[in-house]
Amino acid sequence: MIRYVSEFLSPLCLAVVLTAAGTANVLAADVNELVEPCAGCHGKDGVSTESDIPIIAGNSATYIIDTMVSFKDEERPCEETEILDGPRKGEKEDMCKIAADLSEADTKLIAEHFAGKPFVRAKQEFDADKAKLGKGVHDTSCKKCHENGGSSPDDDAGILAGQWIPYLRDQFEEYAADERPMPKKMKTKFEKLNETDIENLVHYYASFQ
Ligand code: HEC
Ligand code: HEC
Repeated sequence: MIRYVSEFLSPLCLAVVLTAAGTANVLAADVNELVEPCAGCHGKDGVSTESDIPIIAGNSATYIIDTMVSFKDEERPCEETEILDGPRKGEKEDMCKIAADLSEADTKLIAEHFAGKPFVRAKQEFDADKAKLGKGVHDTSCKKCHENGGSSPDDDAGILAGQWIPYLRDQFEEYAADERPMPKKMKTKFEKLNETDIENLVHYYASFQ
């Protein structure tokens, strides 16, 4: 059969057919290879079990792409973190380097991959009284852009509901220190919060389980 085919196809033609098949295989394998290093810190399918590393599954592809660009441009702080699992376990990496090493096309593939995975809310302790007060703050100042307690990926603003408390606290610290940029209208609201408001907010987001 092979001889029969090759007799009818010119060598060039056969090369084209083989190359096309080869490319398809490479593309199919690619996204899994691309996201493998992410699992070393962000856990299986982007559902981090480490409280200072964010759950990235289920965020919109737009948010993930924008975020990777912020890291690439070093607009967001990039602390070195130890890789928790996989072949490079124990080595250190940071998000700015990781984002800078990815092409635009690969970043898009990765973002779409994680956007298609479910955001699994963190199981963590929270204070119900603080959560109740936090809801009040959220509904007054944050709801407009972070709908449904910050659980709607379509807001392209990160998922807050069910995100890890230590990660959220870090982000609030970075925003307060002007180390992470935020939209102008969020800044106006954010500047009016005091420490108690922020503490109540993180318990509110943690109450989504
Ligand atoms: C060495 C550990 C490590 C690896 C590997 C890693 N990350 Fe991260 N990532 C982090 C940490 C830590 C943060 C939180 C940074 C901060 O505090 O601002 C983060 C933040 C993010 C965020 C922002 C989440 C949000 O809600 O704003 C995205 C998106 C992200 N990483 C995607 C990826 C992708 C995609 C990969 C793989 C290509 C990857 N990360 C690999 C540690 C890692
Ligand atoms: C005008 C719209 C707007 C308002 C109002 C707003 N935000 Fe945001 N928020 C955004 C956008 C857009 C992002 C994503 C951009 C970025 O990286 O900062 C964001 C990001 C965040 C993040 C980081 C999410 C992550 O996964 O890392 C937190 C935390 C947050 N907002 C909290 C709040 C809180 C608390 C309030 C109310 C006091 C608020 N925001 C009000 C638009 C808004």
